[in-house]
Amino acid sequence: MYRTDIARPIRLTDYRAPDFAIPETQLAFDLHPTQTRVRATYRIERRGATDAPLVLLGERLSLKALRLDGVELTPDAYTLSPECLTIPGVPDRFTLEVEVEINPQENKTLEGLYMSSGRYCTQCEAEGFRKIVYFPDRPDVLSKYTVRLRAPKAGFPRLLSNGNLIESGDDANTHYAVWEDPFPKPAYLFALVAGELDVLEDHFITMSGRTVALKIFVDPGMSARAAYAMDALKRSMRWDEETYGREYDLDLFMIVAVRDFNFGAMENKGLNIFNASLLLADAQTATDLDYERIESVVAHEYFHNWSGNRVTCRDWFQLCLKEGLTVFRDQSFSGDQRGHAVQRIKDVKMLRARQFPEDAGPLAHPVRPAAYLKIDNFYTATIYEKGAEIVGMLKTVGGADTYRRALDHYFDTHDGTAATLEDFLSSFEAVTGQDFSPWLKWYVQAGTPTLTIKATYDAAAQRLTLNVSQITPPTPSQAHKAPVPIPVRLGLLSEAGAPLRFVHAGESVTEALFLLTEANTQWVLEGVTQTPVISALRGFSAPVKLTLDEPEAHRFARFRGDPDPFNRWEAAQSLAKALILDPQGAAAAYAEALRATLTDPTLDAAFKALISGLPTEMDLAQSLTPVDPAFIHARRKAFKAELAAALKADAEALYAALPAEATFSPDAASAGRRALRNALLDLIVAADAPAATALAQTHYHKASNMTDQMSGLSALSQVHGTAYQDALDDFYARFKSEPLVLDKWFAVQAACAHRETLTRVRALVTHPDFDRKVPNRWRSVAQAFAANNPAIFHDVSGEGYAFIADEILSVDRFNPMTAARLIEAFGGFKRYAEPHRSLMQAALERIVATEGLSKNVGELAGKALAG
Ligand code: BES
Ligand code: ZN
Repeated sequence: MYRTDIARPIRLTDYRAPDFAIPETQLAFDLHPTQTRVRATYRIERRGATDAPLVLLGERLSLKALRLDGVELTPDAYTLSPECLTIPGVPDRFTLEVEVEINPQENKTLEGLYMSSGRYCTQCEAEGFRKIVYFPDRPDVLSKYTVRLRAPKAGFPRLLSNGNLIESGDDANTHYAVWEDPFPKPAYLFALVAGELDVLEDHFITMSGRTVALKIFVDPGMSARAAYAMDALKRSMRWDEETYGREYDLDLFMIVAVRDFNFGAMENKGLNIFNASLLLADAQTATDLDYERIESVVAHEYFHNWSGNRVTCRDWFQLCLKEGLTVFRDQSFSGDQRGHAVQRIKDVKMLRARQFPEDAGPLAHPVRPAAYLKIDNFYTATIYEKGAEIVGMLKTVGGADTYRRALDHYFDTHDGTAATLEDFLSSFEAVTGQDFSPWLKWYVQAGTPTLTIKATYDAAAQRLTLNVSQITPPTPSQAHKAPVPIPVRLGLLSEAGAPLRFVHAGESVTEALFLLTEANTQWVLEGVTQTPVISALRGFSAPVKLTLDEPEAHRFARFRGDPDPFNRWEAAQSLAKALILDPQGAAAAYAEALRATLTDPTLDAAFKALISGLPTEMDLAQSLTPVDPAFIHARRKAFKAELAAALKADAEALYAALPAEATFSPDAASAGRRALRNALLDLIVAADAPAATALAQTHYHKASNMTDQMSGLSALSQVHGTAYQDALDDFYARFKSEPLVLDKWFAVQAACAHRETLTRVRALVTHPDFDRKVPNRWRSVAQAFAANNPAIFHDVSGEGYAFIADEILSVDRFNPMTAARLIEAFGGFKRYAEPHRSLMQAALERIVATEGLSKNVGELAGKALAG
């Protein structure tokens, strides 16, 4: 019925090792905007059956020549289909030359070779290399690349590719450069860039004393804005040496920033390519969140050099082998840089905002999926965030030393190869001698487990008995689930909120780690001298939903004093959730606890900022069935107003006591103070928006950095009216020639929870600065609206849904990968109350019924409807 039924899925169980190895690849590019010539020379060796034909993948390529051991092949010697080139009867060892022509200028998929602001650049992961030249484009074919680039000197002074520059020269109007990458790599890590770029240069001395040249290439005039990324890069390189013992392997590491990019960034060997929004920053144009993301993405892509490049994936089903592990590594890095408590809260917020809904809806899939139509659709929160959580649990149960030894074993034994998740788990088995196969369940089973703890306290025996059980709900095509190993870090508090001792493994402790492996079990804690408050799943020790039947007072006790900062924040969130969803929920007691937290001098500003943020409307939607977006919006707003009114005097005093800093520093402590000051502004505005107009205006106009300026602007968006419009006009006039800042101008308007936004977004997409072909700009309207403005996206008129469906269809015509990512907004439609449910379904049905729909959008929209 839907397209998913007709297209043929790729299955993990169909995996077969490649029939041919290609130990050496030479590429020669004659770069031309519409007629780029690519000549590939492969040294090929048969590894499989003697009669297997050579199958090379290629899409939208115009084949110009084909030579086997120097002899031109006539068309009857091969077959050509839209997706592959098949040559039967090839010898066991031979050289193949393939020549194709491609059109980078016309390529708006931003995959393969394309042009961005007049420059050539590439994006090959996952399956983009086949848009450049015929090749067995799969990650288990590793080859040593030598790449020759030729382009006109004018306009293309820089010619970059992976590895080391080994030769360059010029003739009359053109010049060339030859790059050699000594490390065999899969085709998805190939990259080239050519054009006019400024460079910021630095160097790094590795732990073995080698000097690595570091170069960040950016738009002319922008190199000062790469300074923070450079600093983050050097810190990442040092961190991977100190924490994992992993050193960088080439003499040169380059990063290039481009404006037109489908994702955040890409780890091509020695030549990372970044979305400019995740690389360029200065006080005037970037927020603290931008700085934080730059730091983590620079680290992430750098860390891939080991977790992804040196050890790569056997097939795309193993994607989380590199992504989950690398996210875990970048999260640990960020925690070390910025504080683990705050980092953990942010990571869990993200996991719950994106991965939990995915796992609970029609698009649910295991961290290692069993089948897919388009692998691009599987760069999901589940693969990334849940994948990272599994690595985190392995570290938690094994301890830091075991984890390090297992990772050493993994990197050392699989260096230079394409590995699997089984290989990863085997490394833990190799260093511990224990069976880690139960952990595979986390990879193959979709759905978020629910962990239930029922406590009984026997005062006479001073014994606390915990009956613990787990259940994972059915997900599409997986009805029955087995238990998974769940590490539970658990501590006790007295009802007054002080740490409470108990006896565990013969010792008196206030916290212990338990591991649930069965569906049900019982944990008995002895030596508990008074009625305990249970603080379970500290640090969010497993990605599960916890049900713990307890009096509200126990949550307040944790809110006021849990020594585990994650659970302190968690207690506040769960209380707020319950109070908001209860139409009678009052804010007074909550306000008291928050006041105590905000005025506690021992807590840091970043933590205070986080704990003063209420659960988002998306968070709340997950706890209500059927979802009524208008109710959630109204209740949250009313609760926030009541809370803010109760805290008004404190918020104003605290705000006044935190003056804006004259000079900007992006460090975590300064960012934390700004975050708190901006959170206080948000509360003050929530108490009485009209009364706070002047304050928000001053905040906006006096801002000396983009963080403060944006929070002033979004405060004014809540005030609305002319104060808001004036600020928008002022902002536009100041930043109209700064694309990355203008993205923020679009996004703040699309996310404004005012009904007028429905007409405003329709106007924004006709604005002269709007451009659907630039993913950043498109997302600044479409994504900001669909993901960050639930009240208006879910307007009962259905206009929000229609707008997003129109946008998806428009972008799908030229950039299916980016278009498909927005289908997620309709994912949980069956959980919504009428008329939302029917309206969302109608929008999805209109999408799937569209002529010429891409496989990407077809797969996700089809699943969303069917699930
Ligand atoms: N390998 C990915 C880039 C990628 C993403 C390629 C999707 C193909 C499809 C890269 O390492 C990555 O994960 N980038 C993330 C950011 C990261 C910090 C989580 C991205 O681009 O969103
Ligand atoms: Zn990655």
